[in-house]
Amino acid sequence: MKILITGGAGFIGSHVVRLFVTKYPNYQIFNLDKLTYAGNLQNLTDIENAPNYTFVKGDITDQAFISNLFQEQKFDAVIHLAAESHVDRSITDPMAFVFTNVIGTCYLLHAAKELWKSDFSNKLFYHVSTDEVYGSLGEEGMFTEETKYDPRSPYSASKASSDHFVRAYNHTYGMPVKVSNCSNNYGPNHFPEKLIPLALNNIKNEKPVPVYGKGENVRDWLYVIDHARAIDDVFHKGQVGETYNIGGVNEWRNIDLIHLLCDIMDRKLGREEGASRKLITFVTDRAGHDLRYAIDSSKIMNELGWEPSVTFEEGLEKTVDWYLQNEDWLQNVTSGNYQEYYQKQYSQ
Ligand code: NAD
Ligand code: DAU
Repeated sequence: MKILITGGAGFIGSHVVRLFVTKYPNYQIFNLDKLTYAGNLQNLTDIENAPNYTFVKGDITDQAFISNLFQEQKFDAVIHLAAESHVDRSITDPMAFVFTNVIGTCYLLHAAKELWKSDFSNKLFYHVSTDEVYGSLGEEGMFTEETKYDPRSPYSASKASSDHFVRAYNHTYGMPVKVSNCSNNYGPNHFPEKLIPLALNNIKNEKPVPVYGKGENVRDWLYVIDHARAIDDVFHKGQVGETYNIGGVNEWRNIDLIHLLCDIMDRKLGREEGASRKLITFVTDRAGHDLRYAIDSSKIMNELGWEPSVTFEEGLEKTVDWYLQNEDWLQNVTSGNYQEYYQKQYSQ
């Protein structure tokens, strides 16, 4: 089987690519990535020479390129992760999110339809999405697969739109699709603009740790490798046309999470107890900041037998160790060196 994975040089995509390349040596895995600021091939150096792996640098918003790639390679399946993924960036530059997340997804759907025509046997378009499409929760309740869409940021609106297009291709043309909506991921390769890696990097460098508003917003955190395992399960065992919510059943108020990270870092770095908490700085809140996300994962757990493989304590321990042991990755990313290198290597 020939599978196109988009966004495979990013945070979650790199773990999905590694899992598929190593677990399924008979599959041919193509990783299509534009290598935006968020794409980093250093995330995949351990598998870059695997015989069943091919990297393709390209932009999903380039329709001619996408169409040609599908016609040339004749993919059997797509696992679509490429996206602009950061909510704060969507507030300052919403159009980039419309182009990549909405139009880019539509170009992929269109190219798949053109390639597969109406012969959809053993074909699949799997779209990886977010719990943010469901909007914001109050103190109680959880998002289920039946929760009404209520996206509230340009990022979540663009992801909601792409989800609707994917389902429309299923309903209108009969294309076999699957969608999963996941909560906040954390773990190795996470770009340090997002809360956990940003906090770890700043604590390490004794820089202020910015907490938006009062830090009372709640997120449900899942270890990224458990998300990759869930994607594997949905891809292989999920029902066509269905949606699966994926979460960690692991809700944390931001401020409590930051306290925990500070305390772990104090212990790991041999700092005095409470030293890192002094770096916490309350800053202006994110515009339209969703209060709480929480995922009800019972469908994927009951129907596909998926469950997280690590506790939050274990996952955070692994994550903190990874960031402390991969100083060069962090240095490359924060300095921008990784981009100069790949821009030279892949410039046409
Ligand atoms: P990321 O920002 O780390 O990676 C995105 C990747 O997509 C990068 O490698 C980037 O270069 C690539 N990309 C961006 N625009 C592109 C384009 N026009 N053409 C080709 N490649 C392009 O994102 P992530 O956190 O790994 O998220 C991956 C997917 O999972 C996204 O669709 C996101 O919405 C979804 N998701 C993320 C989370 C999370 O917590 N990070 C949770 C649920 C769902
Ligand atoms: O819920 C899934 C989503 O999780 C994914 O779809 C997104 O791609 C991913 O980026 C993430 O979105 P969030 O906005 O929840 O993640 P972020 O790490 O940006 O922020 C987590 C929480 O921490 C949020 O309440 C905002 C807050 N925050 C964030 C940053 C970067 C801070 O308080 N300070 C910060 O510096």
